[in-house]
Amino acid sequence: MFKPHKLAIIGLGHVGSAVLARAIACQLAAEIVCIDIKPEVAHGEALDAVHSLSCSYVPGIHVYSGGFEECRDADVIICDAGPSIVPGQKMDRLLLAKENIAVIREVMKKVTAYTREAVFIMITNPLDITTYVAATEFDYPAGRLFGTGTILETMRFKSILGKHFHVDASDVQGYMLGEHGNSAFPAWSTVSIGGVTLSQLDEFFDHEEDLNREKIAQEVVNTAYDVVMSKGWTNTGIAMGACRLAKAVLFDERCVMPVSMPLNGEYGLHHVALSMPSIIGRHGVEKRIPLPLAKDEEELMQKSAESIQAVLRGNGVIA
Ligand code: LAC
Repeated sequence: MFKPHKLAIIGLGHVGSAVLARAIACQLAAEIVCIDIKPEVAHGEALDAVHSLSCSYVPGIHVYSGGFEECRDADVIICDAGPSIVPGQKMDRLLLAKENIAVIREVMKKVTAYTREAVFIMITNPLDITTYVAATEFDYPAGRLFGTGTILETMRFKSILGKHFHVDASDVQGYMLGEHGNSAFPAWSTVSIGGVTLSQLDEFFDHEEDLNREKIAQEVVNTAYDVVMSKGWTNTGIAMGACRLAKAVLFDERCVMPVSMPLNGEYGLHHVALSMPSIIGRHGVEKRIPLPLAKDEEELMQKSAESIQAVLRGNGVIA
């Protein structure tokens, strides 16, 4: 018997609320369940969303709130439980590690009491840390749990390059890789626009000033902090990225996106999760693409791994 797609959103704060709005707008699933440690917040977000549907261009999606038992028949779970960085704090997601490792362990205990079938998309920061803990400590099938990773930095990277060269950001190819955080780096060797490689971009595309790679790399990493300092949190970009990944799963798209999951020797790395291009389909990460990188990019990947491993080690997650 046909079963309509079901999305579970765990954590209905600023990010979860934005995920809910985008999931409805993108018509991701026929059923959406909101789960939060404050049931009244989950109830309020679901009720608010339900009443929005009577005046909208999307079909009557069934939105409701519930407990973790609702994960039992979920096809995709998006989790952003736990606190985020706030204005006034040092702008480093890794500082959230101790608190959010505990939050995610609690979440995973509750989720795995009901399912290990759902594709689990992690948003909670520090993303690579929480993804590593969730993916390695709860017998979740490899690839079926992954983190949004540097899909968000890559969206920002493409947007900034598109603006620089006056082209649609979706026509910019290229990745930000490594940590979803301060050690994320642009893999310039992967950048092209409309089939034109990096070295010829200035020749083919309009631009007011020469490409300053260091400036752009810093602008991408600082975007989150610029948004946090301006409005107090980030949610729109990450919600769009998470919904884009959920759609790739639910439609078995097999698209290539940079997401985070534990590495198994790629780039010589073990005992760490970070982002590299991956094929996303119905089973989650279908295949990792350890694409060749320039020597300096490989070094930046190692540095990113060391930064994440230091925090994993400091919290007793790895030896
Ligand atoms: C950001 C948060 C999701 O980069 O880490 O916007």
